[in-house]
Amino acid sequence: MKKTPLKISIALLVIFLLTGCGERIEDLEQVAPGEKIVIKFSHVVAEDTPKGLAAKKFAELAAKRTGGRVEVQVFPNSTLYADGEEMNALRSGAVQIIAPSTSKLGDMFPRWQVFDMPYAFESVDEIHRAMNGSMGKTLYGDLEKGGIYPLAFWDNGFKQITNRVRPLVHPSDFRGLTFRIMINSRILEEQFRLLGAVPVQMRFNEVYDALSSRAVDGQENTVSNIVTQKFHEIQPYLTVSNHGFMGYVVMADQKFWLGLPPDIRAKLEEVMKEVTDWEREQAMIINERDMKVLQESGKVKIHLQTPEEKWEWKRALAGLEKKLEEILGAKMFSELNNNDKNVLSSQYLRSSPTTLPRIETSLVIMGSIDLFSGCSLTREFSL
Ligand code: LMR
Repeated sequence: MKKTPLKISIALLVIFLLTGCGERIEDLEQVAPGEKIVIKFSHVVAEDTPKGLAAKKFAELAAKRTGGRVEVQVFPNSTLYADGEEMNALRSGAVQIIAPSTSKLGDMFPRWQVFDMPYAFESVDEIHRAMNGSMGKTLYGDLEKGGIYPLAFWDNGFKQITNRVRPLVHPSDFRGLTFRIMINSRILEEQFRLLGAVPVQMRFNEVYDALSSRAVDGQENTVSNIVTQKFHEIQPYLTVSNHGFMGYVVMADQKFWLGLPPDIRAKLEEVMKEVTDWEREQAMIINERDMKVLQESGKVKIHLQTPEEKWEWKRALAGLEKKLEEILGAKMFSELNNNDKNVLSSQYLRSSPTTLPRIETSLVIMGSIDLFSGCSLTREFSL
């Protein structure tokens, strides 16, 4: 056998020692298959939405920060599971993370319907404050008792209403129209009933077909969902009402999450925190961007609700407060009214429209974005 010269052996030994002692560069491809943790993240919206982009970012950062040990596979657009299937899939272990809208938790965790209460929240900041306070504690507590591990609260934005028949200015304009609503929310159902319309619960992935075949006349959603689903191309009227909030609870099954190796879990939770901050900014940017898309499409007449009209709608919807009280329980309901200013509308309803503070031209789509600066709050305008 040929002998390796001594000099070469020493050089090899030095290289080996140096690379062994230096900073370890983790090669994402080098994780043994047995060591890899695969997390399936299923959601129902398009990739180019706040939730869609944040799910992808979470996957990227999770791989990077765990040196490839965690692979998050994201399934957008209901490709794996649709509304109504996601929760079972999570519980059975078919997927490990989902991020449904709060409304869709209404059957199992009814108190999350608080976000469906029209005009309960005036701004996204108010919502974040409530979620960081006693309201969040109660809501997250409900999930934990039900075996769910809440990972984050992501924003989309305030909902607007579209339809194919006429501009929706006064409550009477709703009479006789049919509207798609998200599944599982009694508050949303009642909201449309009180306005004289007919609510139809429907999965998100069925909405476009239902609108284009005229199975329903309209729907409510955020601007980013309206644009990415192309609802505006078949719905000629949109009212900017900011009446309800669409947020998401990013969640895992408790047993699965707590069963992860502690170091991995800590890293993933750190990444989730970072992605949540990013997602909230993106939600604002994307809804603003998509409002411009709507304006420039020339396909939809946009009506900005005035403070007087908002008051009319609130009056028509006043019966919902009783229902909300039943759902939340007296304690949470009174906490909302007493501790978190402006959370419920009772005070607002007592004042008359003429004594209401005037809302200037800035539109609250997300936070307070001035989309139409320079425009007066006209009754209706075509863009
Ligand atoms: C809807 O069903 O309209 C929304 O919940 C979709 C989503 O997840 O944003």
